[in-house]
Amino acid sequence: MSTFNIIQLGLILILFAFLIYYVWSIFFGKNYQPLIWKQKAKQNLISKELIKIEGKYKDKDRFFNFWFQVERLRESKIEGSFAELGVYKGDSAAVLHAMDPSREFHLFDTFEGFQQKDLENETGKAATYTTHNFADTSIDRVKQKLTSNKYYFHQGYFPETTKGINNVGFALVNMDVDLYNPTKAGLEYFFPRLSEGGVIIVHDYNPDWLGIMKAVDDFANTIPTPIVPLTDTDSSVMLFKPKGF
Ligand SMILES: C[S@@+](CC[C@H](N)C(=O)[O-])C[C@H]1O[C@@H](n2cnc3c(N)ncnc32)[C@H](O)[C@@H]1O
Repeated sequence: MSTFNIIQLGLILILFAFLIYYVWSIFFGKNYQPLIWKQKAKQNLISKELIKIEGKYKDKDRFFNFWFQVERLRESKIEGSFAELGVYKGDSAAVLHAMDPSREFHLFDTFEGFQQKDLENETGKAATYTTHNFADTSIDRVKQKLTSNKYYFHQGYFPETTKGINNVGFALVNMDVDLYNPTKAGLEYFFPRLSEGGVIIVHDYNPDWLGIMKAVDDFANTIPTPIVPLTDTDSSVMLFKPKGF
């Protein structure tokens, strides 16, 4: 067999593999989607915008965990705004916003990356960070990903940016700040302002991010409900506000 024939055969095999993958994904590719999502999509109860976002969002477990919480809050009529602490370019913010654009959405970030004082005692992956990480974003960039105008940007160092926010209760808060200080401050700020039945979701609860684990564990010791671990790629956890607490 000549080199040319070998290359030809290789190309045919690659094309064949793509074809099998394509046919396979038509029939079985959506198997990861929960039944309830599929049923609601068939009944046109899920917006086209959200269906599009779901198709592109890599961490399906994270996506559907957000979705189940948003649906639960809606169905149980739990009132309150949504918030995200740690927005960066707005990828997870866009997901939450598209899941319930009728909720007011509060977005907290420096939009200029970390501050040195928060990096000083970090270990693990966070110890490799500088103030330049996550600085390449802007509010305008995030706004382009939000479809309704029920949002409020709180730009600057958290928790200083909470000054002046009065009488706002939260149903769902997504925290994704990578470091101990803002995670601790976020839990202390948001939990008391959470509606009964509301939820805080903290991203990156894993040994690469020891600051986050410590902030969550310390805080969890002060509340009656256990933290609930999730199966998403970076191991989020949820903290619920029980009735009467
Ligand atoms: C991992 S990124 C967030 C990723 C984002 N959730 C997404 O979906 O792409 C972490 C963000 O937390 C922000 N952050 C960290 N500490 C902060 C603080 N003390 N105050 C405000 N923002 C902070 C950083 O500026 C950065 O944009």
